[in-house]
Amino acid sequence: MFALNRQHHCLNWVSTFMKKSKICSVGQTSTPLPFLKWAGGKRWLSDRIVELAKPMKGRYIEPFLGGGAVFFALKPDAALLSDVNAELINTYRAVRDNHEKVLSLLAAHHLAHSKEYYYQIRSYKPRCVYRKAARFIYLNRTCWNGLYRVNLNGQFNVPIGTKSAVLMPTDDWPALSALLNSAQLICGDFEDAIAQAGKGDLVFADPPYTVKHNLNGFIKYNDSLFSWSDQIRLRDAVLSAKRRGARVIVTNAHHESIKDLYKQHFRLESVSRASVLASSAIHRGRYQELLIS
Ligand SMILES: C[S@@+](CC[C@H](N)C(=O)[O-])C[C@H]1O[C@@H](n2cnc3c(N)ncnc32)[C@H](O)[C@@H]1O
Repeated sequence: MFALNRQHHCLNWVSTFMKKSKICSVGQTSTPLPFLKWAGGKRWLSDRIVELAKPMKGRYIEPFLGGGAVFFALKPDAALLSDVNAELINTYRAVRDNHEKVLSLLAAHHLAHSKEYYYQIRSYKPRCVYRKAARFIYLNRTCWNGLYRVNLNGQFNVPIGTKSAVLMPTDDWPALSALLNSAQLICGDFEDAIAQAGKGDLVFADPPYTVKHNLNGFIKYNDSLFSWSDQIRLRDAVLSAKRRGARVIVTNAHHESIKDLYKQHFRLESVSRASVLASSAIHRGRYQELLIS
């Protein structure tokens, strides 16, 4: 009974909050913005990728989904979305299947947010898929820089950040949910998703960036390693997909080792973006990435 009252209170509160801040609550935006902040996110490059991707004929396949910037910008009719991060995939499934439930739980986090509350929720392990999803979105929006990092036991361990807005005027949950409705969501390794690409499909792959000469040959990402041999495995997987008649777009580090990996069978394009990471103006500038198609 208490839980029902609490949910009712949150839904009322959400509706007042939406009216006051003119939030799109009924799927009003034609292109909804991604709802997660994700390291290496491609929101800055999504216009160019959408241009390359259109016209879409077959299925859109994105094996490193992260924040899904390109999926939400492209709005394909049918998609296979995949990532190795199980909590991430659970979150997309929950938003797809019952965004009202996720939103009411998120509103409760919004109302209760404080430093103490953040650390309580960070150590809390809900079992219900919707509670898990609301916790994931809450932590993503209030942790340091939207980072996702887990310790050796798989527990999220990013400290609280400077942002405190959990619900945002730009969220269009009904539109996000409607778009996800056309998607099959899978948790797993990229090779399994790419193996499903056939004639007319489009694969967009945005892997963690690793280059060959890194001190120990790999970098740490999430709770697993994305090694140089994973980069070779990815190249082989997209090349096989291309040979089966799929179109392929890959983003990666602008580095000789990556160029060598792809130059024989793919077209390479340099794209540059303003660096927002450097703390001093002297170090801020533009840096290059590679668009492979
Ligand atoms: C650079 S991010 C993708 C960002 C995304 N394009 C966006 O716009 O937000 C890379 C993603 O690859 C996932 N990943 C890492 N290793 C993977 C693997 N072996 N198979 C599938 N996904 C993997 C990570 O969980 C992460 O979400």
